[in-house]
Amino acid sequence: MNNSQYLKNQWYVVGLSEEVTDRPFASSIMGEPIVIFRNSSSGEVAALEDRCVHRQAPLSLGVINGENLQCGYHGIEYNRDGNCVHIPSQKKIPPGAKIKSYPCRDHQGFIFVWMGDPAISATVEPYNFPYANRSNWRVRYARLHGRFDHRLLIDNLMDVTHLPFAHKSTIGASGVADRATVKTERMKNSVRVTRSMENIEPAPPTFQ
Ligand code: FES
Repeated sequence: MNNSQYLKNQWYVVGLSEEVTDRPFASSIMGEPIVIFRNSSSGEVAALEDRCVHRQAPLSLGVINGENLQCGYHGIEYNRDGNCVHIPSQKKIPPGAKIKSYPCRDHQGFIFVWMGDPAISATVEPYNFPYANRSNWRVRYARLHGRFDHRLLIDNLMDVTHLPFAHKSTIGASGVADRATVKTERMKNSVRVTRSMENIEPAPPTFQ
């Protein structure tokens, strides 16, 4: 996909909360290389362009120094807003020595990053996972690695009529494909699809 095909003014999950520590790590969203890290003193999460203004070294190879991210090449430091705040080899910080910063949120076990207009980010909440905050539910987080186009996974999850065939020994109750009533509603910022399946035999009780 080229960059113009992405939805910019949206929150994107970049990783699990537990993965973001005071060791910076690299990621890429919408083709933009970014570095994510957690300040060691405040615990706040930050997302910056993964490229030093000096010699373009990836900042994800650097370290956290207090509240700042320190480049691993010549030690220039950036705060969470992307401003260069310290240059070890000189006193003067050139005006404009700044890298792009992205709004980010630590929300319901995920780190969300906003790739569009920062001013709009304050008006939009990250996706709410309704079961994540229920005390009587146990939530399990996992990362799925795969060498495939992510759109194939979206396609897979949106069309559950494959369940009786591809998952017949686990969640593939018969009737999912041909006896469901499907209702599609246009919401404010999304589309909701509800499948009602009444009087259908549940899937087999045990995993095989
Ligand atoms: S490349 Fe980052 S300080 Fe030189």
